[in-house]
Amino acid sequence: MVDTLMRTFYIETFGCQMNVHDSEKVIGTLVEKGYSRVEEPADAELILYNTCSIRDKAEQKVFSRLQQFKKEAGKGKTFGVLGCVAQQEGEKIFERAPHVSLVCGSASYTKLPQLLVQLEAGGKRVTGLSLDTDETFETPYTRRDSPHRAYITIIEGCDKSCAYCVVPFTRGPERSRTAAGILAEARELADMGYTEIQLLGQNVNSYRDPSDASQDFAALLRAIGRVPGLKRVRFTTSHPRDFVKPIIDAIDENPVLCNHVHLPVQAGSDKVLAAMRRLYTRDDYMRRIEWMKRSPRRIAITTDIIVGFPGETEEDFQQTLSLIGGVEYDSMFSFKYSPRPNTAAVGMADSLDELEKGRRLSIVQERQRAIQIRRNAELIGATEEVMVEGFNQGTGQWIGRTGQNRTLNFTSPGTHRPGDYLDVLVTRSGPNSLAGEAVN
Ligand code: SAH
Ligand code: SF4
Ligand code: F3S
Repeated sequence: MVDTLMRTFYIETFGCQMNVHDSEKVIGTLVEKGYSRVEEPADAELILYNTCSIRDKAEQKVFSRLQQFKKEAGKGKTFGVLGCVAQQEGEKIFERAPHVSLVCGSASYTKLPQLLVQLEAGGKRVTGLSLDTDETFETPYTRRDSPHRAYITIIEGCDKSCAYCVVPFTRGPERSRTAAGILAEARELADMGYTEIQLLGQNVNSYRDPSDASQDFAALLRAIGRVPGLKRVRFTTSHPRDFVKPIIDAIDENPVLCNHVHLPVQAGSDKVLAAMRRLYTRDDYMRRIEWMKRSPRRIAITTDIIVGFPGETEEDFQQTLSLIGGVEYDSMFSFKYSPRPNTAAVGMADSLDELEKGRRLSIVQERQRAIQIRRNAELIGATEEVMVEGFNQGTGQWIGRTGQNRTLNFTSPGTHRPGDYLDVLVTRSGPNSLAGEAVN
């Protein structure tokens, strides 16, 4: 029956860049199947949420969104939950939100076209929840948001088992793509006019080419850095345990590889790092920081911090603060520990109350803010190359991004287009951005 076919879809994405890029692939897959994307849920026959489960708040957001649109199900709309909450909760989602018809985790996206056929055939509850996969989700139909900057997944899943983290349960075991496939995609993007590429993975530096084990992440990085046409190659996230010196050497040798490393430390005390099962000590971590600080290029270092992990004493917390002071990060994401289902830490005693976690989080954020004010001020007088991202009508400034991933807003007598590169003299700084003037 033709009139049961869904023609329009809306998708909302929560969570990390992996999810953002997965959505680009899902959109491409649906468009290829004849669907068209709409910007408002009200206009869509199929409503998809690509979800995140990293902290409880992220998960709750999805269920409240589903609740909000419950009435719409009566009007013939179909609802699908994708991503990490889909994988984590599985068929339980049908109980909590009976108007949902599709539940599919990221490790099963290769089956999406099949699942859509089942939905169109009138399927009321279809699922893709297998995790025992060695597949990666690759499609020639990716609909990238930007014409200048592109994500490329190089490795999916995670083989670590940090005690607080749902990712191994929601994204399955580590699977690397072949270097040949990644390079072909990078070349194709460069030919299409993309100048910036961001390599994605939960742990990019655990990368190992499945068809040639001698190709590790540093080798891949070197090869991508040589693709003609690319001006910036970024990568995220790096796991400290697998962060080896050849990665820094590659950055030192090729300016196309951005001088920015996101190296989440999580905590500063060895006791907490061990309880978190992070597989490195504070000394191991600081050795890697030293490699970067000794680089002839000024490498921006950013991190993630969790405060209030079970058993974190005031003394442990002080060690996190001293580490932050010692490294002087360029930027940081910091979080209150959130107990997550299936993880080892969920049953650990000595959980801190929310008030204390909140107090520690504010202290971390204040410390970091002071560091950023100081570090950004050091850049006044420097000339930085930016990629233009847009124009802010309100301030009359162009918005640019530096190789180190800082926002640099600038004035210019000229007219620019998003994706242009130009030099900007930094004249002012704040905690979260720089300001300056275009250099002729
Ligand atoms: N693979 C990356 C991180 C992925 S998750 C890595 O290993 O570094 C992104 C960040 O979310 C983590 O670095 C961590 O700081 C935070 N996070 C993960 N689980 C969390 C939890 N249960 N509570 C609070 N923060 C968490
Ligand atoms: Fe989660 Fe740890 Fe894997 Fe990162 S390395 S995704 S924090 S389990
Ligand atoms: Fe969230 Fe899943 Fe990414 S839990 S942070 S969307 S890997």
